[in-house]
Amino acid sequence: MQKPKTIYLQDYKPSNFEITSVELTVDIQNRFTLVSSRLSFKKREELRGKKLNLDLNGESMELIGLKLNEENVPSDRFQVSADRLTLFNLVEDEFILEIQNKIDPSSNKALEGLYQSGPQLCTQCEPEGFRKITYFIDRPDVMSIYKTKMIADKTQYPFLLSNGNRIGSGDLPDGRHWVEWEDPFRKPSYLFAMVAGDFDVARDTFKTASGRKVDLEIYVDKGNLFKTGHAMESLKESMKWDEERFGLEYDLNIYMIVAVDSFNMGAMENKGLNIFNSTYTLADEKSATDHDFQNIQAVIGHEYFHNWTGNRVTCRDWFQLTLKEGLTVFRDQEFSSDMLSRAVKRIEDVMMLKEAQFAEDSGPLSHPIRPSSYIEINNFYTRTVYEKGAEVIRMIHTLIGSENFRKGMDKYFELYDGKAVTTEDFVNAMELASKKDLSQFKNWYNRPGTPTLVIRTKQEGDELVMDVEQKYPPTTLSLSEGSILHMPFVVGLLDKTTHQETEHLLEIKKLKETFRFKVTGEVIPSLNRGFSAPVYVDYPFQISDLITLMSFDSDPYSRYEATQKIYDYVLKNELNYLKATGKLSETLESDFQEAFRILLGNKDIDLSFKSYLLELPSENSLTQEMDRPDFEAIHLVHKNLQKKLGLQFQDWFLDQHETLSEVSRFELTPKAFGQRALKNQCLTYLVASGSEAGLRALAHHYESATNMTEEIHGLKMYIASGAPLEHPAIQKFYQKWKHDSLVMIKWFSSLAAFTPKSEALTRLSVLEKDPLFLNQVPNYLRALYLQFSKNNLHAFHDVSGAGYDFISERIKLIDGFNPQVASKAASSFSLINKLDEKRRGHMRSSLEKLVRGNPSKDTFEVVSKFLAQ
Ligand code: PHE
Ligand code: ZN
Repeated sequence: MQKPKTIYLQDYKPSNFEITSVELTVDIQNRFTLVSSRLSFKKREELRGKKLNLDLNGESMELIGLKLNEENVPSDRFQVSADRLTLFNLVEDEFILEIQNKIDPSSNKALEGLYQSGPQLCTQCEPEGFRKITYFIDRPDVMSIYKTKMIADKTQYPFLLSNGNRIGSGDLPDGRHWVEWEDPFRKPSYLFAMVAGDFDVARDTFKTASGRKVDLEIYVDKGNLFKTGHAMESLKESMKWDEERFGLEYDLNIYMIVAVDSFNMGAMENKGLNIFNSTYTLADEKSATDHDFQNIQAVIGHEYFHNWTGNRVTCRDWFQLTLKEGLTVFRDQEFSSDMLSRAVKRIEDVMMLKEAQFAEDSGPLSHPIRPSSYIEINNFYTRTVYEKGAEVIRMIHTLIGSENFRKGMDKYFELYDGKAVTTEDFVNAMELASKKDLSQFKNWYNRPGTPTLVIRTKQEGDELVMDVEQKYPPTTLSLSEGSILHMPFVVGLLDKTTHQETEHLLEIKKLKETFRFKVTGEVIPSLNRGFSAPVYVDYPFQISDLITLMSFDSDPYSRYEATQKIYDYVLKNELNYLKATGKLSETLESDFQEAFRILLGNKDIDLSFKSYLLELPSENSLTQEMDRPDFEAIHLVHKNLQKKLGLQFQDWFLDQHETLSEVSRFELTPKAFGQRALKNQCLTYLVASGSEAGLRALAHHYESATNMTEEIHGLKMYIASGAPLEHPAIQKFYQKWKHDSLVMIKWFSSLAAFTPKSEALTRLSVLEKDPLFLNQVPNYLRALYLQFSKNNLHAFHDVSGAGYDFISERIKLIDGFNPQVASKAASSFSLINKLDEKRRGHMRSSLEKLVRGNPSKDTFEVVSKFLAQ
């Protein structure tokens, strides 16, 4: 097999040609779709008068016509290959190219370009899908005005949608019709979109701050209108929020969202015509969990916010992806914080960052938020580019303050509106507005890996002396000498006796620094408050100090962090005990018991927050800090600690569970989210206790559940406690929900993630043959295979290697039609460098089979990085 080509940031060159306007006619016919494209080209200023070749990207299509300035192009003046069309020796500085080509959306299972989702047709062009629709210079710095005319059968496709404003429509013979759209804003090809189909439409309007009326339309499968309310509310909230917080108004008179079932990602910010995975659009109380509701709000916000950060100002090249994604994630996080509970949102975001991004960054796929090379750009839509990227933006926000940050955003739009720019440009705008020197800060864009801050303190009289040292994991990239990170680090000092505290924002800029603080008594440091920097902190905490922080730290994130450290400490002791004695410990340490009791009794914290404080670190996060993790032992110890706590505090959990069952009205408020979260948390401990009372609580919880948050939690508890597939609880769910694909996806996910190891692989093989399992639709593939490999750790990592073989065989199948989903599934193997020899050997042989089988570029890139370990 030929090794795919690597693309380097340092090789960036602007395009020789600009395309000022694009006129597309897309004729959707039964067997294929005919695309006619009329492109106005211009040579770049400096190249006028030169004779140049023109290279256009194009894949999976048939060229049927090519005209240059109205004349057919003779066959010796151009060449077509599998991925491009080249025209030779163009002397004209400006010219018009007319291209006709055929594509076949119904056979497109990669879901890039124009494809079929159920009976509908839709597009996905980011990052490089436009080249599967027609020949084009498919890169984000080539920006054009688009006009799109769509033609199709009127009964099958009554709705024909594209970007911008609808400028005409009409009927044609044979029951066909046409609709024409024009987008007045210049945009890169990746923001182009088209949809054809029959839908139900939810309609509303929004009045902008300057008084313009915007039509809002959400297109969903027939019969799903009742599930669009929350998405519509979220859209209006997003529009208002961006006006208030950033002074940014929507710029077209129509905003459309289309929900489809087949989609590779969450959603896509195409100008004026977002296309969403239906998971992030449709919800009602019966079928959606509280997390679904929160995710919908966040994703609707995210895509809406892209209209300014992404669309109006876009990326020069794909290495700059974090320019739009990091910034837009930061914006959607802020939006959710303002809509819900800021403290809880921060805990959730950091939890996810630590579990998923820190893991990514400590394995073979580690890369800086602005990568310097790639084989397949689709592999870089990562936690690092998105979520660590958002943390980097958040650090700028912390360093310069929110007022300056707002000025910096204004500056960014003043300088770059309508342009395709770089991350440097963004930081420069922030520097100009705040007058703060961020040159050293820019190192965050180049450095992969999570740094550690090693912190040691000593008290000298009325002074606390704090030594801070930065440590970086080794990197294979060459970084310039002195590329030391600059970061904000928020520290609280909590007086041991009075519990009074002071707070300090430190700026860390050197490898080793010492800070001094005046104190009046003995203090406990509360470190990295609010998770001000995305780093590990190494500090020798005493358990008693953590217990004090857990009870009195006024920073909710640090308080959460302190409880997690306590659990970590206990779990690790129990693991050691198991290793030493071969038995699970049966006792609870008295200090720990006391701390847990205090937590349960705490009445003045919000219930969501409380349920997070009660949550043990996941098995995933426990394996992370370990070299050669013993998955089986971790699983057993985790369950055992839950069981002991469940038994010890059974009365409290029972009582609380019952009290929370009295809430009857369904509301989407932080308070109601908290009540349901805590009720579920109580059930977890009750079921773990294994007591009769616990099992009765489960039956009652499940039978009486009137919302999906509680119902699915009950189902998971049955599955995790080993219920067979035929168990009435599992079958009842199936019968009740078989008509609702989004709920069935939850059923498949829960079974994949929670089925005990002894049954897991057999069960997966049964599930993938279920008639409701749609084996070409990404949501289902992720539900079964990724839930298994990422959340059912002890089963996937079984020493026999059977889990690895199973998943690698599935990856191979998926890679045959959808490389993006296959390569995401391949990331299941990212723990390879942390495994013991036996497991690593099994993993290697599974991976080697995959590379030998002629994989896609996407899968090749990921798998070869694992094998290089
Ligand atoms: N740009 C989309 C987002 O972050 C994600 C996406 C990438 C969707 C590539 C589809 C394909 O909102
Ligand atoms: Zn995005």
